[in-house]
Amino acid sequence: KGGKDQLVIDAGQKHFGTTMCKSCGMIYTASNPEDEIQHLQHHHRFLEGIKYVGWKRERIVAEFWDGKIVLVLPRDPSYAIKKVEDVQELVDLELGFQQVVPMCPNKTKTFLFIDEKRVVGCLIAEPIKQAFRVLSEPSTTKECSRAWRCSDVPEPAICGISRIWVFKLKRRKRIARRLVDTVRNCFMFGCFLSINEIAFSDPTPDGKLFATKYCNT
Ligand code: ACO
Ligand code: ZN
Repeated sequence: KGGKDQLVIDAGQKHFGTTMCKSCGMIYTASNPEDEIQHLQHHHRFLEGIKYVGWKRERIVAEFWDGKIVLVLPRDPSYAIKKVEDVQELVDLELGFQQVVPMCPNKTKTFLFIDEKRVVGCLIAEPIKQAFRVLSEPSTTKECSRAWRCSDVPEPAICGISRIWVFKLKRRKRIARRLVDTVRNCFMFGCFLSINEIAFSDPTPDGKLFATKYCNT
């Protein structure tokens, strides 16, 4: 008794036949050939997508002991735009978002968190004029697909965060928090945006947990 159970616990990431890849973060069943092929495809595409070799003229807007934040603007060289598009595609795939066309693509600001030679975080911000506050009480109607409701009174806002994403293996290291701090500092020249001037668009459950915590601290 106990011997086999103990082995399962000691294996850490390995449980119930599933494995988490330590490089790409995908969880798959190693014993299932189809799953293995899917993993290999995802693995190469993902690692290629987040690879960052460094640019001659990169716009570093923040530096930390464990990485830096680079800002990419719409008129930047095509290699920078291509990287942003690749990362956004990976993020949208993970979030299950359809390709969403930004309201004003020429005003979009993308912030990439770079660690070593990888993009491990991404925040896409765009100018907005108003936002609707999320009401804290959960909705009780079953028809409502989301678990929370929004007020129907528009409030003025300046910066909309249309995407925020952190690489699965790098979460809970305050990368998202530092991305939002940096946006507040850089979005409008010469001023630090207040919490009320930024808005998260259509947050996922993860996004909501993060935003709630961020806005209260
Ligand atoms: N569950 C509970 N609390 C959380 C979570 C979570 N999943 N994520 C963040 N928080 C809270 C915590 O209090 C955390 O502080 P702590 O770790 O000291 O307790 C605090 O927020 C700060 O978190 P960060 O470490 O800065 O957040 P992280 O770098 O892990 O990124 C993010 C959060 C971006 C939501 C990440 O989980 C992610 O990429 N998820 C998948 C993609 C996604 O759903 N993005 C949001 C889409 S919505 C939109 O784009 C507008
Ligand atoms: Zn992998």
